[in-house]
Amino acid sequence: MNVCVIGGAGYVGLITGLGLAELGHRVVNVDIDAAHVERLNRGDSPIYEEGIGPLLRRHLDSGRIRFTQLLPAGLVDSEVVIIAVGSPAQDDGHADLSAISSVAEDLSKHWDEPDGRYRVIAIKSTVPVGTAELVRSIMGRQKREGEDFDIISNPEFLREGKGLHDFFYPDRIVIGSDSERARAVIKELYEPVIQRRVRFNGEEPPGSEPVPLVETSLASAQMIKYASNAFLATRISFINEVAWLCERTGADVKEVSYGMGFDSRIGHAYLDAGLGFGGPCLEKDLRALIKISEASGYDPQLLRSVLERNQRQVEEVVARVKEAAGDVLYQRVITVFGLAFKPQTNDLRNSQSLEVIQRLREQGATLRAHDPVALPEARALDPGAAYIDDPYEAVHGSDALLILTAWPQYAELDYGRIKERMASPCIIDARNLLDGSLLRALGFSYTGVGRGPSRASTEPRIG
Ligand code: UGA
Repeated sequence: MNVCVIGGAGYVGLITGLGLAELGHRVVNVDIDAAHVERLNRGDSPIYEEGIGPLLRRHLDSGRIRFTQLLPAGLVDSEVVIIAVGSPAQDDGHADLSAISSVAEDLSKHWDEPDGRYRVIAIKSTVPVGTAELVRSIMGRQKREGEDFDIISNPEFLREGKGLHDFFYPDRIVIGSDSERARAVIKELYEPVIQRRVRFNGEEPPGSEPVPLVETSLASAQMIKYASNAFLATRISFINEVAWLCERTGADVKEVSYGMGFDSRIGHAYLDAGLGFGGPCLEKDLRALIKISEASGYDPQLLRSVLERNQRQVEEVVARVKEAAGDVLYQRVITVFGLAFKPQTNDLRNSQSLEVIQRLREQGATLRAHDPVALPEARALDPGAAYIDDPYEAVHGSDALLILTAWPQYAELDYGRIKERMASPCIIDARNLLDGSLLRALGFSYTGVGRGPSRASTEPRIG
């Protein structure tokens, strides 16, 4: 099929476009960002994502994907138009829908260039219930629904760093629409994924049964996305609350979450206590859902608590650093390991780590920071800061080392060497990544999150 992806240089648009090209479709990714369009056409991805470079170059060569700023060029021959532009949070938490409505205006203006064919508009951006109706009403001023176009809501559930994997091996595909014809088009689009005929990176598909296809109303599909992200956020805030309880009762949250997760009604995912959730999605969507609730006259107490618990994680880690430094942070040298909002990405958006750094600086601390991939982005954001490429160099003269992103490579470092370079052997592991018993044996003072003081910080195990 011929597909036009709008917002095609952004995270969701790029993964979707490349994924569809790999399925055999011909894709044009349209984006207003000239620099990114130019980079992508050269085969250079602006985002760090497992497997993206080779896939991009392969499909530029095969001619199955190209990037342009021109919407009419993307619409030529297209049967499906995917909207994947951003819906950032406004200051008050409401989702900003200006990009979506401007795309709808542009679409209705260019719909008939060069031919006036029927196309399905699939909304992938995370948008409040009612947004599909907004696109429908803008399109409907000039075009006829059912004849010229239909709208579906097709939310994405991609995790950064695992985006392509999640595209090819989804847990479910949600199609919200009241048009039978549009649903059939979208099923055809994803057919190889649904039937598990694709292989990515040599991986076997996680199952042999077809991917569950969830067909709903437009409103339900949009709500499924918000409710899913809010639920993931709730699990994280829940386990962080349990972590603080563990600390006060001598239990170890790693053992507790491990034990809880075997209950088939609970599972192990999203039960890692630590610094809380950051990144461009969970908090934004949670805030938007709070606003949607309030606008409908409902007080979303639970959702608000989830958000508040998350904000407290940063404060509590800062308080812990302060305590370790004898209450005065002025001129204390603190090294941070990890700037990205989670491992396997160079994304610094809404990173809890940057929030901690900011708070420590405000109190007079001198910061040194390392990240395995996000240093170029960090330097662009704050050129004056001490960002250091070598982790052993980064800890030089430090009074404390903070682990703020759970990059697995930090667990592989030689902590004997690290201790020699630090002014004071103190580690605060805000992601519970390291082996505390080993570090204590090396002479470090080690603190994790939610781990009783006497417990060795090894992995819990059955047996
Ligand atoms: C999230 C959802 O997981 C995706 O399904 C969704 O498609 C995406 O948002 C989106 O709406 O676009 P992502 O933002 O990539 O994906 O991040 P996650 O992997 O979910 O992690 C979010 C944050 O939670 C990270 O800061 C991570 O460190 C933290 N986290 C995660 C925990 O603190 N504990 C956990 O157990 C899991």
